[in-house]
Amino acid sequence: MNLQKPIIIYISIIILLITGIIISITSIKNESICITQNQKKIKKLNPSKKEISYMNELNIDRYLKYQEKNKNLSLEDIVTQVNIGLDKKPYSKTNKSPYLNKPYILTNKYTYLEKDYTPDELEYLDTSYSRNGMMLVNDAKKSLEKMIQAANLDGIKIRVISSYRSYEYQEELYNKYKEQDGTKLADTYSARPGFSEHQTGLCIDIDDTILDYNNFHKSKSYIWMQNNAHLFGFIERYPKGKEDITLYTYESWHYRYVGKKIANYIKKHNITFDEYYVRFIENKEE
Ligand code: DAL
Ligand code: ZN
Repeated sequence: MNLQKPIIIYISIIILLITGIIISITSIKNESICITQNQKKIKKLNPSKKEISYMNELNIDRYLKYQEKNKNLSLEDIVTQVNIGLDKKPYSKTNKSPYLNKPYILTNKYTYLEKDYTPDELEYLDTSYSRNGMMLVNDAKKSLEKMIQAANLDGIKIRVISSYRSYEYQEELYNKYKEQDGTKLADTYSARPGFSEHQTGLCIDIDDTILDYNNFHKSKSYIWMQNNAHLFGFIERYPKGKEDITLYTYESWHYRYVGKKIANYIKKHNITFDEYYVRFIENKEE
C-alpha cells in the first residue's frame, strides 16, 4: 500500500488550515489597529466629544487637515465646510445632486444637475411682475405671487428678470462671460452649466423696476426682501460676508425658494443654504 499519498494530503490540509488561521489573526489585528487609530483621530479632532450628527467618520483625515489650516473655526464649522467640499478646489470633486424636484435640491460648485434635468411642474410667470417667458416650479411661483402681492400692498415693487434657465442657456451665458472676463473672474459670478441654481426652477433674479439689478441692494425693495422674503419661503442665496462658503460674489438680487421652514431657520441662524443642506438634509431624507 502506498502510504505516502494520504500523508502528503494530510500535511497539505494542515498547512492550509494554519495559513488560514494566521491570515485571519493578522487581519483582525490590522482591523483593530485601524479602529484604534481612527479613535485616536476622532479624539484629537473632538476632545470634548461633542455630538455632531452630521460628522462623517470617513472624512476624519479631511477634518483634521482642515482644522490645522483653520484654527479659528468651531468644530461644527469644520465639519460643515468639509462636508460641503470646501477643502477641495471648486469643481474638482463633484457629485450629482440628489433630491430632484424637491424644494431642498442643491446646486453649488461641488453639486450638479445633469444636462437633461428639467424640473417637473414648470409654469410661466405672469408678465405683470416678470419679464416675458420666465418660468418657475409651481410651488415657488405660488409663493412668489403671494410675496409680490404683499410687497405691492406695502408700496414696494419687485420684478422678476431671470428665473428657470436650461442647461443649454446657462452654457451660453457662462461661455459669454468666460470669453468676456476669463474663466477666473467669470467663475466668481456665473455658474458653469449644470451647476447653476437657475436650472432648479426654484430661484429668481429680481429688480425694483428702476435701478439696475446690480444696484438692487440700494433699493427699498431690497430692505423689504430682507425683512419679508423668508415669510414666503425665499432666502438670499449668495449673501454678503458668506462668499467663502457660497464661492460666489454677493448677489443682492438672487433669491431661492426653499419653503418656509427652511427659510425661517436660515434667516434666524444667519447661515447659507449650503450649510443648512449638509447639516439637515444630506443623508437624512428619503
Ligand atoms: N449667478 C449665479 C451664481 C448663476 O449663474 O447661477
Ligand atoms: Zn441668479
